[in-house]
Amino acid sequence: MKAIERKNLVLDDSASIDGCCEPEINVAVVPSGGTYDFGTVTAGEPDSTLFVELQAVPTLNLSPPNAILRPVSRDRTGLEARRPSSRRRGMIDEKVIGSLFGKQLGKIQDAGLRDKVVKTFALACQRGGWTSVADLERMPFTLLTDPLGVNFVEHTIAVTEGAAALGRAQAEAYAKMPYAIDFDRLYAGGLLHDVGKLLEIEPDGKGGFRKSLEGQYARHPVSGAILAAECGLPGDVVNIIVCHAKEGEGRPQVVEAVLIHQADFATFDPLVMKQKGMLIEP
Ligand SMILES: [Fe+2]
Repeated sequence: MKAIERKNLVLDDSASIDGCCEPEINVAVVPSGGTYDFGTVTAGEPDSTLFVELQAVPTLNLSPPNAILRPVSRDRTGLEARRPSSRRRGMIDEKVIGSLFGKQLGKIQDAGLRDKVVKTFALACQRGGWTSVADLERMPFTLLTDPLGVNFVEHTIAVTEGAAALGRAQAEAYAKMPYAIDFDRLYAGGLLHDVGKLLEIEPDGKGGFRKSLEGQYARHPVSGAILAAECGLPGDVVNIIVCHAKEGEGRPQVVEAVLIHQADFATFDPLVMKQKGMLIEP
């Protein structure tokens, strides 16, 4: 008998379980190996992250059989367990955004700027129809290559922190900085650089994601810049959003846009190279 462990699983879009909105239900769990066990799903709701205690198996079928649970890309058990009440559908509000990006938001010293970043994110979720954190954590950060499990939230954090590290490295190494790096601007721009993707990417109704009509009208650097300007972000932060990708090639940019562009491609290029067999992994 394997040890019972707590795993964090996502209920597929198509799945439904009778009584799933009860605070706690018992479900029959059928490991792929064929042995029957029982698990307990807690705080369940359709199309959202559930908590289940069960024997460790990679693929599970629930009863009824059309309900499928699958593991999320990374075990976030502790995090999930602390915030079920804020994870209801339709609840990606400013508080939820604050919990997702709290560490990076905390680096923005100007409270007014920080509030506008949060407001922009919440508005993007609202306009893009993103209603649960679980959906955001399933959302690929790009449609241009297989993200290999890296989601939109993880990407946003990695790019923001990566750009900040690039900035800090220069500030610490140079006896005299040839240009000033504004870390409020950098963190605000980093968090928002891909906010337009919440309008550009949408679920395809088959468990995957596709480019939305809005995304066909305008790519995310443009839609994100418009959204940020609408929420009162200043022109320097808007410059980061609109210039961080190919839209910025050959255009005047603040230095923080350069850092975020480089951090962005430092997360993207290895994925492309890996899938082309060009990434050496000794
Ligand atoms: Fe990005």
